Amino acid sequence: MCGIVGYVGDGEAARFLLEGLTKLEYRGYDSAGIAVFDGEKIRVEKSVGRLAELKEKLGDNIPVGTMGIGHTRWATHGRPSDLNSHPHTDCAGDFVVVHNGIIENYLALKEELIKKGHKFLSETDTEVLPHLLEEFYDGDFEAAVREVLRRIEGSYSIVFMSRNDPGKLICSKQDNPLVIGLGKGENFIASDIPAIIAHTRRTYILSDGEMAVVTKVGVAIMNYAGVPVRKKVFEVNWNAEAAEKGGFEHFMLKEIHEQPKAVRATLSGRIEKDGSAVVLEELSWDKAFLNDVRKIFIVACGTAYHAGLVGKYYIENMARISVECDIASEFRYRSPIIDEHTLTIVVSQSGETIDTLAALKEAKRLGSKTLAVTNVVGSSIAREADQVVYTWAGPEIAVASTKAYTTQLIVMLLLGLYMAQIRDSLPKERIEELVNGLKEIPTQISRTLEDVDPIKTFARRYGFNEHVFFIGRSLDYDVALEGSLKLKEISYIHAEAYAAGELKHGTLALIVDSLPVIAIATQKSVYEKTLSNIKEVKARDAVVIGIASDTDTELEKYVDHVIKVPETDEMLIPLLAVVPLQLLAYYAAITRGCDVDKPRNLAKSVTVE
Ligand code: AGP
Repeated sequence: MCGIVGYVGDGEAARFLLEGLTKLEYRGYDSAGIAVFDGEKIRVEKSVGRLAELKEKLGDNIPVGTMGIGHTRWATHGRPSDLNSHPHTDCAGDFVVVHNGIIENYLALKEELIKKGHKFLSETDTEVLPHLLEEFYDGDFEAAVREVLRRIEGSYSIVFMSRNDPGKLICSKQDNPLVIGLGKGENFIASDIPAIIAHTRRTYILSDGEMAVVTKVGVAIMNYAGVPVRKKVFEVNWNAEAAEKGGFEHFMLKEIHEQPKAVRATLSGRIEKDGSAVVLEELSWDKAFLNDVRKIFIVACGTAYHAGLVGKYYIENMARISVECDIASEFRYRSPIIDEHTLTIVVSQSGETIDTLAALKEAKRLGSKTLAVTNVVGSSIAREADQVVYTWAGPEIAVASTKAYTTQLIVMLLLGLYMAQIRDSLPKERIEELVNGLKEIPTQISRTLEDVDPIKTFARRYGFNEHVFFIGRSLDYDVALEGSLKLKEISYIHAEAYAAGELKHGTLALIVDSLPVIAIATQKSVYEKTLSNIKEVKARDAVVIGIASDTDTELEKYVDHVIKVPETDEMLIPLLAVVPLQLLAYYAAITRGCDVDKPRNLAKSVTVE
C-alpha cells in the first residue's frame, strides 16, 4: 500500500520527506513524489519509478522550505505514471494532497467537480481531494477539510497542505494507518512508524474519524464535527526493523493478520450499497458477451492456481459455464482447445510470473478473450490481458502467499456472482445471501486470528514430523492443496494434499501410526463422506487435526484435535478454513528455525521458466 509522510518545523522539509519515504520503501510502490512550501508557492516534484530516480531527477535542485508532504504510490486506480503519482493539486496549485487507500465515491465526485469547471490531469481517485478542498475553501482551512471528509466515502489516510495556510498541515484517516511524530520545534506525519522512528519515539496514533491540525509547535486532534479529542502519547519501543513489520516478527505473520483489511479493500466499491448485487465497473460485460463464452480456462501457478481451483467451483456453480483450471506451465504445452468463444482468466499476485504470462500470450494467440486477476497495477500480466480485475491486498512481501490468496478467492467469488447476475443463472435471493455473507468475511477472519495458541501448540507438537497429509473433498480439497503448499514451502516438511475419497486408491498405504493428518471437513454436502475417510486414517492410527465450522459438534468425536472457524455459507468457508492452515505452516516453520519470509530455493516472483 502507499507510503505517506509530512513535515512541519524549523528544518528542511525535503530532507525528512525523502528520508522518510525511503524508510517506507518496504511497503512496495511504483512511483514517488514530494511537495514543499517555500513561503510563496508549493513546488511539486513527482515521477513514476523508484525513489532513487526521483532523487536523481532532483539532483542538487532539492525543493526548499520548512513544510511539505511526500508519497510513495502503490497503484490501485490508474496505472503507474508521472501524472498519476502523488502529490496531487487543485487547479491553481494552492492545495496539495497525498492519500493512501481508496475513495469509493470518487467517480460521482469527479463528475460533479468537472461540471463546476475543475480540470483533472490524472486517472486517480485521489485527485478529487484537492479539487474538493478548492471548492469548499473560503479562508477556513480546517472547516474546508472537514467538509471534504464529510463528502468522501472509502478507506483513506490523507495529508492536506494549503498555500494560504503556511505552517499548518491537516491529516485524517479511515481504515488506513496514520501516525503523528512529536518532535522539538518540528512535528512529523507518516503512514507508518519506520518513517519517523529516527526522529522521535513519541507519537499520536490517529483513530478512524479523527483529524489532526499539525504545526511545528503543536498538534490539535478533533473529530469531524471539530470537537477536540484528548490523545495519550504512544511511546514507540520497537526497533526500526521490527517497525517495518508493524511489530510482527515476520512479514508473513503481518500479512496473515492483514487479511481482514485486504479483503475489505478488495470488496470496497464492488458491492451495491443495498447488498443486493455485485458491481465490477472495470468489466461492464453484458449478456451478449457472456453468451458468447462457451468455455473458461483459469490458468495460474502455485497458490494462485489453488485460488483458481476454487474459482472453477464458484463459476461453474453460479454461472453454469464450463471451467477448466490449469497449471500455467502445463497449459502452454498441451495444445488447449481454444477459440473466440473461450475466456482465459489468468491469476497472479505479482503479475510477472513468466509461466503465467506465457500461457496468457498463448491463449491470446489462439484467439481467446483474456482477463487477468492480479495484485500489481501495471504489471506485465495486467498490461497483456484484455481486461483486469485487481485484488487490492497491498504489497505482499513474504515469499509465501497469504493475503493474495484470500483476496484472489474474493475476486473469483465476485466474478462468479457477476456472471450469474448477467446470465440469471442464480436466484436473486441466493445472490443476496452470498453477498451478505461476503460482507461478514473480514470480521470472521479477524475472529479466526484471535486465538492462535492451539495452533502454536500443534506446530510445536507435530512440527518435527517429516511427513504430513492434508485431506478434504470438494472445496475442502482445494483448501487442503493450499495448506499443504504453505507448510512445505516454509517449514520444508514433506506435506501432501489428497482428495479424501482418493486415499483408498493407493495413498492409504502411507498412512501409519502417529502420522499427522489435517482433515478439512467444512463442506456439508460431502461431510459424511469426509468423516468416513477420517475414520479410515484413524483406523491406521494417524493423528488427525480436524478443521470444522464452529457449529460442528460431531467431528471432535472422531479426531484428536479440532480447529474451529466461524460458521458461514459453505461456498465462503474456504476464506476462513485457510487461515489456521497458514498459521500452522508459519508456526511449524518457526518451530523448525526456518527463514519464514525467505524460504530456501524460492523467490517471491518466479520470472524464469
Ligand atoms: C505461494 O506461496 C508461492 N510463493 C508460489 O507458489 C506463488 O503462488 C506462485 O509462484 C505464483 O506467483 P504469482 O501469484 O505471483 O503468479
